[in-house]
Amino acid sequence: MKVLAVNGSARKDGNTAVLIHRVLEELQKEGIETELIQLAGQSIEPCRACWACGGQKNCVHKKDSFRDIFEKMKEADGILLGSPVYSANISAKMQALLERAAVVCDMNPGLLTHKAGAAVTAARRGGALHAADAMNHFFLNHEMIVPGSSYWNMAYGQLPGDVEKDTEGLSNMANLGKNMAYLLKRLNGCEG
Ligand SMILES: Cc1cc2nc3c(=O)[nH]c(=O)nc-3n(C[C@H](O)[C@H](O)[C@H](O)COP(=O)(O)O)c2cc1C
Repeated sequence: MKVLAVNGSARKDGNTAVLIHRVLEELQKEGIETELIQLAGQSIEPCRACWACGGQKNCVHKKDSFRDIFEKMKEADGILLGSPVYSANISAKMQALLERAAVVCDMNPGLLTHKAGAAVTAARRGGALHAADAMNHFFLNHEMIVPGSSYWNMAYGQLPGDVEKDTEGLSNMANLGKNMAYLLKRLNGCEG
């Protein structure tokens, strides 16, 4: 089993990455393979609304990183999305990724059906729940199954590493990883 994580921050290895790693550590303890893609430094253009992806099972536009990432999303058993809060929402790169992934899934139904999906977000102060919801809406609109945790999946910090001080937030991430592993094992017919 494999979980693909995508960090939508413009800052590589920042707070969102810390949260993602905390979730992935718990998945790894349960024997689940993980991979992290960080969008920082990569180009992801928004959807062009050309609707040419019908029957293609991927976006037809090849000049940026989208197609490779979406292939990995299709192959994975679970997808972990992480975004910092930007303007009380997800980052523009995460939005571009989800716009295009959503249209490809709409035009080619079933590509992500019954995979597990979880979302985490890092914020300085406001908008974290909205950002988490934006990512969860993607999962819920494409027949994915979303595990919960002991609180909403957010942690607070501004400068890189600040979220390490948010012990409640990190503990919630660890619990999310445990619950995602539990869900993945059952979705894939393994014993707990
Ligand atoms: C363009 C931009 C917009 C931001 N907007 C918000 C915001 O609306 N609310 C908030 O709490 N933090 C906001 N922040 C702060 C980041 O969410 C915060 O620093 C976060 O920890 C960054 O995570 P990262 O290290 O993974 O990039 C913003 C940061 C940037 C760069």
